[in-house]
This record gives sequence, C-alpha cells and structure tokens, in this order.
Amino acid sequence: MKKGFFITFEGGDACGKSTQVKLFKEYVATRTDKDNFVFIREPGGTILGEKIRTLLLNFEDDSPVPKAELFLYLASRVQLFEKVIKPALSAGKIVVADRFYDSTIAYQGFAREIFSAKEILKLHKLLLGNFSPNLTFYLKIKPEIAFKRKKAGEKLDRMEKEDISFHQKVYDGYEYISKKEKKRFVVLDATKSIEEIHNQIILKVEKLLAE
Ligand code: TMP
Repeated sequence: MKKGFFITFEGGDACGKSTQVKLFKEYVATRTDKDNFVFIREPGGTILGEKIRTLLLNFEDDSPVPKAELFLYLASRVQLFEKVIKPALSAGKIVVADRFYDSTIAYQGFAREIFSAKEILKLHKLLLGNFSPNLTFYLKIKPEIAFKRKKAGEKLDRMEKEDISFHQKVYDGYEYISKKEKKRFVVLDATKSIEEIHNQIILKVEKLLAE
C-alpha cells in the first residue's frame, strides 16, 4: 500500500472535474482504508482558504487585478500546504486535491499571461520547495464543448464568466503541461461518459495503490 501519496484533479472550467472528484470520494468511502484518504480543494481547504475562494470567485464589489489574483491563489495554497497537505503526507495519508499548481500555470500563466509557466514554477518552488503531485488526472475537453454542457440559467463564477478565448488559453496551458509531464499526467477524454471516466480513474488508482 502506498503511503504519503498526492493525487490531483485538473482541467478547464466545466470539464466535469468536480463530479469525478465527488464520485471518487464516494468510491473511497467504500474502501476499508478510507480513513487514509484526505480530500481537499483549491482555492480553499482551510478556513482562510475558503474565505479567499469567496473573494476570488464570488466577490462582486471589487475584482482582483491579475497579479493580486495570482497571489490570492498562492496564499490559499501555502496555507493549505502547511496546515493540511504536508502534515497529512507526513502521516502517510493519500491526499486528493481538486486543483493544484497546474491550475496556476494554465490560468494565471497561459490565460492571464502575467508570468510564463517557468516563472510561475519558480514562484511555486520558492513557496513550497520541490513539491509536486505524484499523479494528476487531467480531464481534457475543448472549452466550447465543455460550456455547452452547462445548464441554462446556471450561475457562473468570476472565472467561468471569462470569454471563450480566455478558456481556450487555459486549454492550451493544460496541453503544454500534459506534454511536459507525461509521467505524472493521466489524460482523460472528458467527452466520454461520467461512468467511463470514473472507472478509468478507479482502475489507475487501484493499480497504483497495490504497487
Ligand atoms: P473550481 O474549483 O470550481 O474549479 O473553481 C476554481 C476556479 O479557480 C477555476 O476557474 C480555476 C481557478 N483557479 C485559478 O485560476 N488558479 C489557481 O491556481 C487555481 C487553484 C484555480
């Protein structure tokens, strides 16, 4: 059984990631070792982080400028890393995160174009050291297809409200990372059925945990 393992879920908005994390959590709840898993999300996952999440996604009074946005995401991450991720991994737990630094590269790097992917990684290293997920499930889907699946009248957050060219750049960012991180990234075709994707995820995790 693997100990101290870090799994992340990534993808553009409306890719179905949160549905898959939820199903994976339900599957974990059926395992005898369920207490060995810790589920978190970004931004968020701590009291401070959840407040930052509200500021980033749903605070209508004053939108952060791109660099402020970047540092708010990073502030949430550092808090989560020090308070939850690091202690859990040290205790031998399996941490499952809904987003991590690949999101920052895709959204703030590629889409906002504040810093390059390399510069964002450098910043990440300054804050968290040489720390990276062991495995990342990337739900790949073109944004124009992903957004068609949104239900009419569904409320969009600040990032989801960005135009299609922004989301196309996010997609390009993930394509860049998945080519660079072939070993860590498991690319899942997010146009497939929810069940099919879920089964692929479980198969991969079960194989890994048995190693
Ligand atoms: P989600 O958790 O529902 O996917 O919403 C989080 C939003 O925040 C999503 O639009 C992606 C965005 N995001 C960034 O822009 N940068 C980051 O570093 C992270 C973690 C998320």
